[in-house]
Amino acid sequence: MLTDNEILEESRKNFELIIEEKEMLDFHKVFGNGNPVHIEIGSGRGEFLLRSAQQNPNINFIGIDLKEKRIKTIFRKLYIEKLKNVRIAKIYLDEESINFIQPNSIEKIYLQHPDPWPKKKHFHRRIIQHSFIDIMHKLLCNSGIVDIATDHEDYAFWIVEHFAERKDFTSIYKKGFTRESEKGHIETYFEKKKREEGFEPYFMKYRSIRWIEKNL
Ligand SMILES: C[S@@+](CC[C@H](N)C(=O)[O-])C[C@H]1O[C@@H](n2cnc3c(N)ncnc32)[C@H](O)[C@@H]1O
Repeated sequence: MLTDNEILEESRKNFELIIEEKEMLDFHKVFGNGNPVHIEIGSGRGEFLLRSAQQNPNINFIGIDLKEKRIKTIFRKLYIEKLKNVRIAKIYLDEESINFIQPNSIEKIYLQHPDPWPKKKHFHRRIIQHSFIDIMHKLLCNSGIVDIATDHEDYAFWIVEHFAERKDFTSIYKKGFTRESEKGHIETYFEKKKREEGFEPYFMKYRSIRWIEKNL
């Protein structure tokens, strides 16, 4: 029987995405196919990423998280599930480090319960800022989707307001959000925990619009 370290080593060999400084990834090489690529920022324990990948074998998924403990949890699950269409990157994602992704190469970006940074003095740490939305727009293919869920009301309104100010994204939901989960919705660890505490999530989806479309 393998030890935990051996399991992690084996799983990392198959599923870890190592990003060299200033390198831009060729997804065709990484996955060995030209299937569409979706990324999840802040995958946590990986429920959303792994279920999505299992249900969509013809889509390639990249999960990103900065915390070693959470990444290890995902590697342990992948050792058992062996999902060929998943790669994991341990990285602190920001406007700089996200440059390993080629422009126009991503079909969907998921942010499931990003850290809300509730204190005003920490608002600058929230991942949703105009500078970050600019980058997401650059990375997404035409009509690519940003899919966000949060249990934090103030952050939900922050997100809705930021996207409402943009001409390069349009909201799929009329009010900018919905409280209804879609059919087949995958509940994450944080979503479950927060629901138990009485916080129902807000769901947001934005479609990117290319310059040509904007100017029609
Ligand atoms: C509140 S947890 C949500 C985890 C998971 N999506 C869920 O819903 O259960 C936020 C996660 O995002 C990760 N995270 C926060 N900021 C990040 C960043 N800039 N780059 C990569 N991961 C980040 C944290 O380590 C944490 O695992």
